[in-house]
Amino acid sequence: SVTRYYEFNVTQHSINPDCSDHTSPVFLINGQMPGPTIKANQGDTIHVLIRNKLSEVDTHHHNVAIHFHGIRQYGSNHADGVPFLTQLPIRPGEEFVQEFRVINQAGTFFYHGHVGLQEETVFGPLIVYESQAANPEILSTNSTELLPLTAGPFSYHDEHVAILSEWWHRPPIEFENFLMGSKFKFLPEADSILINGRTMHDTRHATLAKCGGYDVMTVLPNKTYRFRVIGATTFRTLGFAIARHNLTIIEVDGELVKPYTVNQLEVAPGQRFSVLIHTDQELDDYSVRVVRRWSDDVRRPTNGIAVLQYQQPISRFDHPSLGVGSRGVLRFKRPAVIQPPSIHPVFEKAESEAPYWIWQELEPLYGVDPTVKKPASRTIKLRSVDRHLPDGTTRWQVNGVAYTEEMGSKQQPVLYNVLNKTRQLPGRYNTAHTNGYDPNLRTYPLKHFEIVDIVIQTTHMPGEPCRSHPWHTHGHSHWEIANGKGEYTEERDGNIRNINSPILKDITMIYPNVDPDLFTKDGEKVTSPVGCGWSKIRIVADNPGIWAVHCHNTPHMLMGMMVALEEAPELISIP
Ligand code: C2O
Ligand code: CU
Repeated sequence: SVTRYYEFNVTQHSINPDCSDHTSPVFLINGQMPGPTIKANQGDTIHVLIRNKLSEVDTHHHNVAIHFHGIRQYGSNHADGVPFLTQLPIRPGEEFVQEFRVINQAGTFFYHGHVGLQEETVFGPLIVYESQAANPEILSTNSTELLPLTAGPFSYHDEHVAILSEWWHRPPIEFENFLMGSKFKFLPEADSILINGRTMHDTRHATLAKCGGYDVMTVLPNKTYRFRVIGATTFRTLGFAIARHNLTIIEVDGELVKPYTVNQLEVAPGQRFSVLIHTDQELDDYSVRVVRRWSDDVRRPTNGIAVLQYQQPISRFDHPSLGVGSRGVLRFKRPAVIQPPSIHPVFEKAESEAPYWIWQELEPLYGVDPTVKKPASRTIKLRSVDRHLPDGTTRWQVNGVAYTEEMGSKQQPVLYNVLNKTRQLPGRYNTAHTNGYDPNLRTYPLKHFEIVDIVIQTTHMPGEPCRSHPWHTHGHSHWEIANGKGEYTEERDGNIRNINSPILKDITMIYPNVDPDLFTKDGEKVTSPVGCGWSKIRIVADNPGIWAVHCHNTPHMLMGMMVALEEAPELISIP
C-alpha cells in the first residue's frame, strides 16, 4: 500500500455549466467541476492538502471544509471534514491536510464541500479499487484488446463514472441566504441536472463555440462496463437509466452486493451504485438520462442527459496520430455533442412511483452480517419536525433541536471540546431519560461497541406534503433493518424486522409515506406534526469519534436536520 497525494486549491470562478444565459460566481477545486478524481487501492493512505485561496475574509460563506463521503475514517475522526464538529473550517488564506487510510472498504465514494451550499460545485469522485486487479491504471496496455478487470467475483473491461449534480442559476451564496432567511417558503427545483458537470439548458441557441455540450462516454461493442453512478446532488432524488441497456447492480455505497438487474436506478443525494452494462446494442449513440423522483415536479422532464457512444476499436497502426485512450485502447477524440441522442430510456410513470423496491431485494454479496440478528442495546428515536419560527425563518428540529454549526465553539471544534470535557463527566452514558441526548455537549453519547438502533422519523404538518429525506451516517455504514409508514411506536414496531437481508449502506432514504388515517383522530382535525414514515437503522459503535448523522438534502441539513454522535470519547485519539 502507498500514500496517494492530492492538492486541492479552492478558488472562485464564474461558470455556466448548462450552457444557459446565466453565469454564476462559485467555488471550484483546481478550477474544475467535478473536481479531480481521487483514486486509491484498498489499504492505501489518501493525503489531501486543501488550500482555501478565496480572497474574502469577512464572511462564513468563504470558509471551506471537505468531507470524504462514505469513508468511515477509522481512527481518523479529525479528517472527516465537518466544520466546527471535527475541525475548524479552513479560512481564506489557510491550508489544512486531511490524511486517512482506507482500511476495510473499497468501492465508489465522493468528496464534497460541507459548508453551506458549496457542495453544489465543490465535489468530485473518490474511487477505492478493491485490489490491483480492479485498478484500470495498473492493467493498461497498448493493445486493442481490453484485459478484464476483476472486483470480487465480477469481471468487466473498463469503467466510467457518472456523477450527478444540480445547478441553480441563482448563485449558491444568494440561495443559501434565501433558504435561511424569512422569505423562504419552499425549495425551488434546480434549473439543470448535470452529468459529469455538464448538460444543455436550451439546445435551440446552442453553439459549440459557447458550450461544451453533453458529456460523452465511449464504449466498445460487446464488452462489459462498470458504471459508477454517484448522487452528488444536494436536494433532489433522481431516477437514472441508459437507453436500451439493463443495469446490473453490484455495489451500493461502497459494499458489493449480489448482482441484481434493473432498468433504472433511484439515486438519492449521497448515494452511490456500481452497475454492470453489456454493450450488446448496435453502433449508435444512446442517451443516459435522469428524471426527478419524489418531487411535485416529476412530470417535467429534466435536462440531465449524457451520451453513451459506441465506437469501433481502432488499431494504432491505422491511426498513428491518435493518443492512447482509456486502458491503452486507442480512441478517437470524444467529439462534443450539443444535440441529445435520439434513443432515450423509458421511465416508469410517475403515478406508479412507490418506495424503491430494491431495498427489499438486494443482498450482501457474502451474506447477511450476524450482528443484524442480535438484540440492540437500545433504540434512539430521532423525530424531525419543520418549524416556521416567529422571525419568519424555517428550521428543521430533531427532537426539538435544530442543529447549527455554531453549536461548536468558534475556538475549537466539538471534537476537541468533548475530549476536554467528557473526562470530567462520569455517568456520561446515563442519558436514558433524554432519549440518549446530552444537552450539555449537545451530542448523543454511545458506548464502545454498543449495538444501537436509530429510528429516523419524519413528519409533516397536516395539509403540507411529506418530503423525502435521505439520511447519512458519518463514520459508519449502517443496516436498514425496518421501515414503515406514519408514526413509529415502540409498542407496535419495537421488534419489527421487515427488510429481509439488510446490506451495509451509508444513506437510507426515509420515503414520504403517509398513513392518511392520521389526519383526523377521533373525528378531530389534527393540528400538530404527523408521522410521514420512518426507518430503523443499526450501527455498531466500533469507531470512537464525533460523527454527524444528518439528512443529505443539504438545505434540510443547513436548516437543522442533523445530530452528532459522541462515540466512546475516552478512546478517541487525535494526532
Ligand atoms: Cu455527504 Cu455530512 O455528508
Ligand atoms: Cu431532509
